[in-house]
Amino acid sequence: MADTMIEVAGVKKAFGTTKALCGVDLAADRAKVLGLLGPNGAGKTTLVRILATLLLPDEGSARIAGLDVVRDADAVRPIIGLAGQYAAVDETLTGRENLELVGRLYHLGRPEVRRRADEVLERFSLTGAADRQVKTYSGGMRRRLDLGASLVANPPVLILDEPTTGLDPRSRVEMWGFIETLVADGTTILLTTQYLDEADRLAHRIVVIDYGKVIAEGTSDQLKDQLGGDVVELRVASPGDLDKALAAIAELGDGKPQVDAEYGRLTLPAKGGPATLMAAARRLDESDITLEDLSLRRPSLDDVFMALTGHSAGADGSDGDEPQPADDAGGGRRGTT
Ligand SMILES: Nc1ncnc2c1ncn2[C@@H]1O[C@H](COP(=O)(O)OP(=O)(O)O)[C@@H](O)[C@H]1O
Ligand SMILES: [Mg+2]
Repeated sequence: MADTMIEVAGVKKAFGTTKALCGVDLAADRAKVLGLLGPNGAGKTTLVRILATLLLPDEGSARIAGLDVVRDADAVRPIIGLAGQYAAVDETLTGRENLELVGRLYHLGRPEVRRRADEVLERFSLTGAADRQVKTYSGGMRRRLDLGASLVANPPVLILDEPTTGLDPRSRVEMWGFIETLVADGTTILLTTQYLDEADRLAHRIVVIDYGKVIAEGTSDQLKDQLGGDVVELRVASPGDLDKALAAIAELGDGKPQVDAEYGRLTLPAKGGPATLMAAARRLDESDITLEDLSLRRPSLDDVFMALTGHSAGADGSDGDEPQPADDAGGGRRGTT
């Protein structure tokens, strides 16, 4: 059997004048997590819907386990599970009824349906809530049930569209644990996310997309290495000093400095490592700038994203950025211009 379980080649999709996907290529290996990282409106859900046979591409092709998602759509559906940001569970049914419904949709026999539902409830710590209506569930429980529903038929390929967006930190970490277990059991996962820390933690390989185009790909480390070294980061004590600090050290860096005015923070790609740090310290001292903090660190995925796109990935809570509003089909960050 092929070891490439998901293969996308030259996929394009437009909605009217909005080019959601402008020729995307990617591949996911068996029993690995491919992270599709991009901000709101980048085209992640559009690609997910094409892979899940819910939307036709305008151009290009996509295959799952060697099967074409357009020509062989009927054969693709039973081998993929889909779970997402908007839990697709029925509020008025109980957790168990939701799972059994999915099992029947996949034409599993009655005893098999019951057994799989019990297994999923157990696995996602929902046994106690199994016979309660879903409308009584917390957000984290719904998301667990939604993920569970995508697993009832035991699909070898799982597509997770922003599975932790909107979850509290504890539920996020719990969801990460479930995802890691699934991969360890051999499931191939395409995981879309706007969280850099999530991609960093879960994805074996990361494809970064922005405005419907792949702008980088590789392992997390490879992406960080693209910056070619370390990053000098400083925070000024008084925000008014930020421009002065920028002027003092800009030419020392090996790339465009990034300024975060809200936090009085400045970062500078620094291939020279400690030498660049020392030079920066001297210049800042000569310019009489009082610092809160000055350090040399390894690039984060956010630095990579910034360097590639000139803007932040958007929802990396760990970096203190403003969270973006939740995406929906009509509410991408891009207009239709
Ligand atoms: N059904 C649709 N009709 C019109 N525009 C759409 C539709 N779905 C998505 N878009 C637009 O396509 C772009 C990509 O959206 P989407 O794939 O949802 O991005 P993401 O999931 O990365 O946030 C956005 O500009 C969005 O507004
Ligand atoms: Mg989306």
